[in-house]
Amino acid sequence: MITSDELRSKFLDFFRQRGHTIISSASLIPDNDPTVLFTTAGMHPLVPYLLGAKHPGGKRLANVQKCVRTVDIDNVGDATHCTLFEMLGNWSLGDYFKCESIQWSYEFLTAVLGIDPNKLAVSVFEGDEDAARDDVSAEVWFSLGIPKDRIFYLPKKNNWCGPAGTTGPCGPDTEIFIIRDVEACSKDCSPACDCGKYVEIWNNVFMEYNKRADGIFEPLAQKNVDTGMGLERTVAMLNNCAAVYDIDLFKPVMNLLKSCCTNPDDAKAVRGMRVIADHIRTAVFMLGDEKGITPSNTDQGYILRRLIRRALRFARQLDMPSKVLYEIATIFISHYAGVYTELRANEQTVLAELKKEVERFETTLQQGLKEFEKLLKYIQNSRISGKAAFRLYDTFGFPIEMTLELAEDSGVSVDMDGYESAFKEHQQKSQMGAEQKFKGGLADTGLETARLHTATHLLLASLKKVLGDDSISQKGSNITAERLRFDFNFPRPLTADEIRSVEKNVNDAISAGVDIVCQEMSLENAKMSGATGVFESKYQEVVKVYTIPGFSKEICGGPHASNTQELGKFTILKEQSSSSGIRRIKGVLST
Ligand code: ALA
Repeated sequence: MITSDELRSKFLDFFRQRGHTIISSASLIPDNDPTVLFTTAGMHPLVPYLLGAKHPGGKRLANVQKCVRTVDIDNVGDATHCTLFEMLGNWSLGDYFKCESIQWSYEFLTAVLGIDPNKLAVSVFEGDEDAARDDVSAEVWFSLGIPKDRIFYLPKKNNWCGPAGTTGPCGPDTEIFIIRDVEACSKDCSPACDCGKYVEIWNNVFMEYNKRADGIFEPLAQKNVDTGMGLERTVAMLNNCAAVYDIDLFKPVMNLLKSCCTNPDDAKAVRGMRVIADHIRTAVFMLGDEKGITPSNTDQGYILRRLIRRALRFARQLDMPSKVLYEIATIFISHYAGVYTELRANEQTVLAELKKEVERFETTLQQGLKEFEKLLKYIQNSRISGKAAFRLYDTFGFPIEMTLELAEDSGVSVDMDGYESAFKEHQQKSQMGAEQKFKGGLADTGLETARLHTATHLLLASLKKVLGDDSISQKGSNITAERLRFDFNFPRPLTADEIRSVEKNVNDAISAGVDIVCQEMSLENAKMSGATGVFESKYQEVVKVYTIPGFSKEICGGPHASNTQELGKFTILKEQSSSSGIRRIKGVLST
């Protein structure tokens, strides 16, 4: 039996012994990356280094990264899906390549974790007109003892990673699977099949190509390795658990939920309890993140709101009081306190925000209920029209599942086709932009974004100075090639005068034409030198500190302009509320 804590330390020890620097988990909220809402993989915060920037930790890195992926939200509650997971990862930044990477993965799984090699299957890239078949990886696997009938050649769709945008680093990967139930499928089945026989636990990506704008894949000068192993899945497999929800991380929470449930073995109840556990765990990590977010109607805050409300809806279905959600949150915070110290530090905020959102949703439900009663008086043929159901959702925030349940209780039906088309029509109008944000990928690290990034540092320093408040800190940053968007804590709107002063302060720094200095130092020294930034760290890490002498000093990965004069002229376009206690500034640079 192996616990999550043990797996984390075994993994980090193994790679530390092989020359890797252990780095902390980054925030769940990506910095300066407009393409995604959340950190979705360990490689995500490392993109600048995969593109060639020098990492202060060297060429070999490893960590455990908290990740959120919400694309599979409808699968949550099955055996393997969660909206939050921990990714164990190791990286080579232009150092070792396929041979060492595969050998170490094999050694870790079999010698350290004791997995029977006969239970392992792997997939490699089959090759196409763009890139050659990955025989190198296949040969390494074969030399380690994996027989040919358990090495599957699969197409790009399965065994290729990136580029996330249209151009950039990418390459074949080799995926490692545990064979779970040999009887589950016909013998022709492969890891590409979703029958459940093969459970993917580790993905080793070999970034050896650069996809150019003309569609050509050219070999990269710096060949990287990027790997990711799912902690929850691996612990489940190692302990022969049928589902990730049966592992130590979830056990106390699942036990509590079962004790509140009248029929805990019913399949629908099991799924409901898993959804509640999953969503509250994710909500705790989002609220308690070092760049903590709160529920709102946009971006990350919107996803958080949906998770909390969905958990609450499932709790209602199972006749559980909403206080169960707070109890679960408390259990998760205690469980993770030693690994993600930010959760304990932010415990009061997490619980208070959770409570506020639950209360808001209960008010919404009461209003929706009233509207539903009114609606019942006017319906024809005992059928609620799709438009009416959509209006309940759109105007009153009343979830369609609630409408369906109430309709059933009242002996009427709902035109779901009509609802779906009203929903789609609305989505097409408003979601085009939002969808883009879920795609994920490599941030644009061009010249424009570097200039705007530097402007962001000047903006933070100016806000502190003009508003005379040293507790102001960055709560989110999102940069596209055209504009910056910066979130910070401040209790009220800025006055027009204050906005002008902040702008002027930034422009003074630009006119001063100072060189931007980048230094590497220990986190401890960075802190003592007065640099701002996130100081949560478990390891004695070396960090980069960017100084704009006389104006700002921040811990940051970069990249930045080299002299402030390159920034041109800074203009604040908008200052508005982002969520409670958080203000948002949008600004541009012009030449
Ligand atoms: N970045 C790779 C993945 O997400 C490891 O699977």
